[in-house]
Amino acid sequence: MSRAAPLITYLKQLERGGQTHIRLDEEAKELLRSQLRAQRGRASPPIPLRSRGVASLSAGASTGVREESTPPSLPTVEAGGSTSAEKLDSLRVQAENWGPARSLGSLREAMVFAVGNPEADLMLVGEAPGYEEERRREPFVGKAGQKLDQILAAMGFAREEIYISNICKFRPALKNQTTNNRKPTPEEMNACLPFVRAEIGIVQPKCIVALGGTAAEGLLDYQNKPVGRMRGHWHEFEGIPVRVTYHPSYLLHNDSAVSEKRKVWDDMLSVLEFLEIPISEKQRGFFAGK
Ligand code: URA
Repeated sequence: MSRAAPLITYLKQLERGGQTHIRLDEEAKELLRSQLRAQRGRASPPIPLRSRGVASLSAGASTGVREESTPPSLPTVEAGGSTSAEKLDSLRVQAENWGPARSLGSLREAMVFAVGNPEADLMLVGEAPGYEEERRREPFVGKAGQKLDQILAAMGFAREEIYISNICKFRPALKNQTTNNRKPTPEEMNACLPFVRAEIGIVQPKCIVALGGTAAEGLLDYQNKPVGRMRGHWHEFEGIPVRVTYHPSYLLHNDSAVSEKRKVWDDMLSVLEFLEIPISEKQRGFFAGK
């Protein structure tokens, strides 16, 4: 499938729905032009295998170290409203019928957006809703969510104080699906990334925690890098510091040793330090002697 295919499918959908005009950014236009060139049999420049597939929220909003790895393919997401809460609501409405995600045909019907404080200092990004999240239309409300709530409580945060999102806004579909879940693919994450990017632009958290390797891959574009090698230092998403840690569900496995819990806790202590939130002796010593 060509890199322009999701965009073309989306535009056709809009056309079928009666829309005659759409504003495309330069990158999307160039993607369509290169598709035309290819159709005419002329050599077109190669498009990187793994397109980030994003257009920025507004011209000039996309800055920082990863700019050069942002080739085109999806239309821009524009948030309406004036307050952060209104803008996020506007994104939520648009995400419901987001053509590039829906046209993949591999995601389920219900859209699960994000939850929490629209002006949070801390933003968490997970991978995708699972069975329970889809049922309740809220991220991290199943078993992994309960584990996450425990971690947040130990940090001194209530769930409502921070902003919790997923890199993929729909539960990835499986054949004969009941309560079983799967990870989102890079294409599924790319299709939803314009929303995550826009959410970050609106909330403007002081830092982000990517929960698990899949979320880190979707956000930071690392491929198949183990969490063990991504954690322990700061990364960056368009100027916002990002910490990577293990997914809470990893800690739920019976054989998940105390050493793994300690690593997650160390990551969270680094986040508290970064946010300049005082850390008590009790918090520091959580895993002492365990
Ligand atoms: N796992 C995730 O990554 N996100 C959720 O919302 C639930 C489970």
